[in-house]
Amino acid sequence: MGRKSFYITTPIYYPSDKLHIGHTYCTVATDAMARYKRMQGYDVMFLTGTDEHGQKIQQKAEAAGVTPQQYVDHIVDGIKDLWKLMNISNDRFIRTTDDYHVESIKKIFRKLYEQGDIYKGSYKGKYCTPCESFWTESQLVDGKCPDCGREVVDAEEEAYFFRLSKYADRLVAYYEAHPNFLEPPSRLNEMVNNFIKPGLEDLCVSRTSFDWGVQVDFDAKHVVYVWIDALSNYITALGYGNEKYHDFEKYWPAQVHFVGKEIVRFHSIIWPAMLMALDLPLPGQVYGHGWLKFDGDKMSKSKGNVVDPVVLVNRYGVDALRYFLLREFPFGSDGNFTNEALISRINADLANDLGNLLSRTVAMVGKYFGGQLPAEQKSDPMDNALLTMAKELRGKYEEQMEKYAFQNALIEVFKVISRANKYIDETAPWVLAKEEENKPRLAAVLYNLLECLRITSSLLTPFMPDTAEKSRVQIGASEEEFTWEKAAQFGVLPKDTAVQKGDALFPRIDMEKELAQLAQTSGTPAQEEKEEPVAPPITIDEFSKVEMTVCKVLACENVPKSEKLLKFQLDDGSGQTRQILSGIAKYYKPEELVGKTVVACTNLPPRKMMGQLSNGMLLSAEKDGQLNLVMLEDKVPAGAKLC
Ligand code: MSP
Repeated sequence: MGRKSFYITTPIYYPSDKLHIGHTYCTVATDAMARYKRMQGYDVMFLTGTDEHGQKIQQKAEAAGVTPQQYVDHIVDGIKDLWKLMNISNDRFIRTTDDYHVESIKKIFRKLYEQGDIYKGSYKGKYCTPCESFWTESQLVDGKCPDCGREVVDAEEEAYFFRLSKYADRLVAYYEAHPNFLEPPSRLNEMVNNFIKPGLEDLCVSRTSFDWGVQVDFDAKHVVYVWIDALSNYITALGYGNEKYHDFEKYWPAQVHFVGKEIVRFHSIIWPAMLMALDLPLPGQVYGHGWLKFDGDKMSKSKGNVVDPVVLVNRYGVDALRYFLLREFPFGSDGNFTNEALISRINADLANDLGNLLSRTVAMVGKYFGGQLPAEQKSDPMDNALLTMAKELRGKYEEQMEKYAFQNALIEVFKVISRANKYIDETAPWVLAKEEENKPRLAAVLYNLLECLRITSSLLTPFMPDTAEKSRVQIGASEEEFTWEKAAQFGVLPKDTAVQKGDALFPRIDMEKELAQLAQTSGTPAQEEKEEPVAPPITIDEFSKVEMTVCKVLACENVPKSEKLLKFQLDDGSGQTRQILSGIAKYYKPEELVGKTVVACTNLPPRKMMGQLSNGMLLSAEKDGQLNLVMLEDKVPAGAKLC
């Protein structure tokens, strides 16, 4: 018999040029679950991807002067890079612009139409363009979109409808028969009371006002409305309605869809109804997790309060961030992100508790036994408390993981880590080491510590894969000794096991210094720009519009009353002196720049700064707050153009 399968998904993300830590949260949680199930021996399919159609994308592409396809291609590459950085182990990545998905959507739409579940009508309603959602008057909050709080507009157009209303009773019956279908339970009440009880309305499933979407093949002016297109990704990615993949039988129905709470409605009402219409089994569960907030507000780019995961990974490492996200916040509830909380977690749990336990233990095996324990060991009844905790850990951890209670699972692991640290104080190995006759006892103490590290580190693998691996190597455990099965056993390492000293897992962070530094980078939302410019690829014509000229610095001085500005007189090869002001006074003394060969952008409109005219901009290069003026070799003549 083959292994049992486990299919888990994240939502497919809108291509936004900067995914923030809230998006990362859901993907990291899904990744931890997928890794945990793999460790248990399941045949896991972990799907994520991007949701690329819709009016908003079309509008953004138009604004950026590129085709929607060019626009999304560029952004999707960035999203894939982010998942690589976060060590996300997805098995598949679906794009709703993938040919096979488009083919399946056309078939699904046609099938539902032919069987009467989709019909043509005319839609009048309140439409939220950013959310691509129609709302009824009664669903609006203060006349605005209940999801994002933005203005809605009256909209009417010929459209196809999905007979959602027909499925209301079946949905309620399904929830009753499957009380765990939607978790946490509070979300189910919300769905039934707010959406189903007031009466389910049929759902508008096509649009004619834009064309960036899957075309309805029997009525070309319509494109499939985004939720049918988006939700179906969970089955098209397995090969439903296409020949690209052939895993539908193996993986469907999914065990769980992880989704943020604002899209629970779509996943627990529309998606099951669509599956009922397609006569397909329903997923085991939809889990609606909470939002990561900043200052009590949902993070969003338009509010300018997003936290950038890349900045945090670069500063603290991917595992610290992964751990923090799943340890700090209960998965089902909202949580408030702060830099203080992140740094405290790293210091207290990772540097102190886990890091110290590992480094002290490995160092003591080195110091007292030259890196390898003797096989002769002497146990003591005082070890029992620790041993029992370690042996019971896997069961407790599993109980929490099965409920997606990542925070509690980690708490259980760290209880054992803390207990092991306490055991060091209780047994005082440095005292035992003084008497030769106590060496067998000392060896047993260190062996017990190594075993605790083996068990706890192996169970940390789904959360911190790299850290767990480093720990495995340091304690000298083989991969076979580091498995799910072995995590429930004590005494797996050979008695005369050898350790390998390595670097500290997590250096301690000086909170005060760190917060001060963070305040100067984009790691804190306060420093983020409100709405970041979209960065689609530019054309060669656009690039060649920028005129970059080589200039010689004739003179340079500070600008009175300005700490930032230097004033340059430049020979730009035109025969006339060009004046440019540049905000680099912090980095250079004026006199050291005279005679240098620099590069200026010379076709910008003149601009006044501190009452002085600047006729262009000097090029410099910036990284991590360090700035360098771009300088060329002296032999390059003034007036030469960069090309
Ligand atoms: N494209 C839809 C999903 C279609 S699924 C068939 C979508 N995309 S999204 O990019 O806006 O959001 C993707 C996921 O990120 C959602 O689950 C959303 O809840 C989650 N998050 C976005 N911001 C978040 C936080 N601040 N905190 C936690 N998760 C949040 O919705």
